[in-house]
Amino acid sequence: MNKIKIAVVEGDGIGKEVIPAAVDVLHAVGLDFESVPVEVGYGKWKRTGQAMDEHDLDIMRSCDCILFGAITTPNDPDYKSILVRIRQELELYANIRPFRSLNITIDSPYKPGPGHQFDFLIVRENTEGLYAGIEEFYEDRACTTKLVTKKGTIRIAKMACKLAKERKNRLTIVHKANVIKSCRFFSDICVDIAKQNNVQYNEMLVDTMAYNLIRNPEKYDVLVMSNLFGDILSDMSAALVGSLGLCPSSNIGEDHALFEPVHGSAPDIAGKGIANPIAAILSAKLLLTWVQEFNKADLVQEAVDHVLESGIKTIDLGGSKSTTDVSGAVIDYIKTQFSPAI
Ligand code: NAI
Ligand code: MG
Repeated sequence: MNKIKIAVVEGDGIGKEVIPAAVDVLHAVGLDFESVPVEVGYGKWKRTGQAMDEHDLDIMRSCDCILFGAITTPNDPDYKSILVRIRQELELYANIRPFRSLNITIDSPYKPGPGHQFDFLIVRENTEGLYAGIEEFYEDRACTTKLVTKKGTIRIAKMACKLAKERKNRLTIVHKANVIKSCRFFSDICVDIAKQNNVQYNEMLVDTMAYNLIRNPEKYDVLVMSNLFGDILSDMSAALVGSLGLCPSSNIGEDHALFEPVHGSAPDIAGKGIANPIAAILSAKLLLTWVQEFNKADLVQEAVDHVLESGIKTIDLGGSKSTTDVSGAVIDYIKTQFSPAI
């Protein structure tokens, strides 16, 4: 592939610590890329009064893909979520989030037993639902509209079916259609698309899904759902894995893609050098898969597994290592295994 252009958006808080680690990993595996830094976020908003401008969006559009840290969202009614806007403007309609149990022991209250090893994908609709930005405020009430379109649902359902077919061909359609009728609209379309694609499917109410994911995560393969449900079940699933600091995600559209950790800017630990960089490094791995550099992607995963198995862990996993200790160990491992043919 030609040299690819990656917009690198560190963002706020720990984004500034974990994204440089992910960029270093891309260099270590020998990806031929041009890094285009883009400053957006709360820091920029405080400095300039604008968190992101059209020029920033144009730069992101002109790149092949985006590596994104996290943005702090202040409690200010005039501040619009940057990430939601990027997802909508670039039509990054599929937020794909892999969750897989680790083979190592970490300091986590949740320890899945041998029969509960899991490996599932959350496929979250990323441009509509309750995040569509249709909101009204009055003195005595506030109203947010949940938008579910046929076009938006068909494309996310097709993506989920495609992924299911590449995996165990099992799709769970998550909704709350017993109460919210737009959820019935969503699930009926997903059922039709699953039938057309010969994908085995079942439906599950989102509250039951939360319960069952904790009880028996090993039963699930691909889960498709609307925006807010996907946001919430993702953080819950990160707790199943052991830490938000381990969980990457892709945001995929027709022409663009954005790769980011599931976590936010974590102001409680920002600036201390203790954030877990693995979610960002594995987001770089998803980027490598997207550009079809499969051997490089495998090497990153192998390096992360090796480092965790060696006990090199940040505080969120019960370890005492710093962000750069962990990323340095990942890069050292890559260097020992690297050959230009990879
Ligand atoms: P958060 O995901 O930033 O943090 C939740 C908890 O997990 C915190 O205790 C944090 O220390 C811990 N954590 C997160 N990532 C970690 C890592 N890599 N290593 C170790 N520990 C980690 O969620 P929170 O605190 O609710 O949000 C903070 C800010 O981030 C808010 O302004 C929120 O709006 C924003 N946010 C941004 C996102 C994005 O840009 N993609 C996503 C989620 C939240
Ligand atoms: Mg979230």
